[in-house]
Amino acid sequence: MVSLSSLGNSDFMQNKYVQSGFMVLLTIVLTKFISVLLGSRSSKNLPPVVSAWPIIGGLLRFMKGPVVLLKEEYPKLGSVFTIKLLTKKVTFFIGPEVSQHFFKAPEADLSQQEVYQFNVPTFGPGVVFDVDYSIRQEQFRFFTEALRVNKLKSYVDQMVYEAESYFSKWGEEGVVDLKYELEHLIILTASRCLLGREVRDQLFEDVSSLFHDLDSGMLPISVILPYLPIPAHRKRDRARKKLAEIFTKIIHSRKQSGNNEADMLQSFIESKYKDGRPTTEVEVTGLLIAALFAGQHTSSITSTWTGAYLLSHQKYLSSVIEEQKDVMKRHGDKIDHDILAEMDILYRSIKEALRLHPPLIVLLRSNHRDFSVTDRNGKEYAIPKGHIVATSPAFSNRLPYVFKNPDIYDPDRYAPGREEDKIAGAFSYISFGGGRHGCLGEPFAYLQIKAIWSHLLRNFELELISPFPAIDWNAMVVGVKDKVMVRYKRRALSVDQ
Ligand code: HEM
Repeated sequence: MVSLSSLGNSDFMQNKYVQSGFMVLLTIVLTKFISVLLGSRSSKNLPPVVSAWPIIGGLLRFMKGPVVLLKEEYPKLGSVFTIKLLTKKVTFFIGPEVSQHFFKAPEADLSQQEVYQFNVPTFGPGVVFDVDYSIRQEQFRFFTEALRVNKLKSYVDQMVYEAESYFSKWGEEGVVDLKYELEHLIILTASRCLLGREVRDQLFEDVSSLFHDLDSGMLPISVILPYLPIPAHRKRDRARKKLAEIFTKIIHSRKQSGNNEADMLQSFIESKYKDGRPTTEVEVTGLLIAALFAGQHTSSITSTWTGAYLLSHQKYLSSVIEEQKDVMKRHGDKIDHDILAEMDILYRSIKEALRLHPPLIVLLRSNHRDFSVTDRNGKEYAIPKGHIVATSPAFSNRLPYVFKNPDIYDPDRYAPGREEDKIAGAFSYISFGGGRHGCLGEPFAYLQIKAIWSHLLRNFELELISPFPAIDWNAMVVGVKDKVMVRYKRRALSVDQ
């Protein structure tokens, strides 16, 4: 028997089941809808990802060369995109708008320590990437102090001396490989200005060969596995130890004799941390090695490219020669820091060679915090914590919306009225990085390269007799691949010529 009330009751019950079933369904649908909405928004905000085969595909593409990858992907994916390298995600920031985040972010957000760890066995313990940021900042203060104008002035005298004595060994005329010659001259100059008189005058051969072993221990594999027990790493470690012994002796003898030299070694010996602690011998050695690694190949490569471009662009060669005559009219043969500072055309010629060929082609940071960047079209991207963030001087320096005809050597693009390096913003020209970790050796590098080229232009007629050199993309510090054969003839540039 079915009572009205029971009928009514069962209808009610049925309705209740239907209603609650409906509510459950609605909740599920709504939850799904919201999660899809949210999910799609956050994945929409993530940078696009380079398409590649799973697991090793990204790595294989990256290994073809980062600049090749950027050339292929930037036109498709824009100025912010991610590539998966095994377990790591590397997000590139290309162009002044987005790379300002790269250069200006505080160390707590984007840090160098993890990504540049591979330098630790080369530089040694207790310095740079082996210490936390507060100590590293103090050590970079030591660099800043060692490279102040008053110090640079005495380094310039030594640079000029080294250039004069090196080129005095060239004959009246002949043929040389400019790349080889400039590499050697820069080692000598760096030894004198940075490592000090003792090394330059007495220990040059020993120390250069130890630096050579350190250099040869910095291989692409060292970036991923810096302590892998391979012969090159063992040689590196032995050389590092030997260098520490040599510098410890030199430092002791300087301290005992009270001798005070005008070089970076002396400056590091006298440096003190905020709490008054002086630097140790091991730290001084490590800082000197870091300085040489930062400055030697970069400067010799740049001086070689400068020569290759000037000698293959008669118009600019004539301009720099005219400038030398102008400077000589005012100062005669003398060259010092302030006179080098007057050589604007030479400066722009070096700067342009360095725009086209920055030796450090990719810069890296490790991201510790979720943040977002906005590209120049106003599109915002979420950059998750854990990504490696990268930028590329070699690619960014040739963006056509920043530099007109970017593949053309045109030093005048920096001249008053054009200043293409400034128009699109502070991080348009990034051969020396910029912002928080901008190169501390930039003035030193320009002075050194100007001192060399000023001497060459004044004293030799030069002709490039080999084809324009190719780029050595395989080197850790990307440089000149081929020999740069130059025919020279001695001359004395005169102001009335
Ligand atoms: C043409 C020559 C040079 C080029 C192209 C160059 C390039 C660079 C670049 C791109 C950075 C930034 C790295 C980054 O952001 O991850 C840098 C940093 C640095 N460079 Fe240079 N460099 C040159 C010469 C020198 C010289 C001669 C010295 C010292 C004698 C030097 C010392 C340093 C130091 C200490 C830093 C680290 C600054 C910091 O992290 O706060 N560099 N350099």
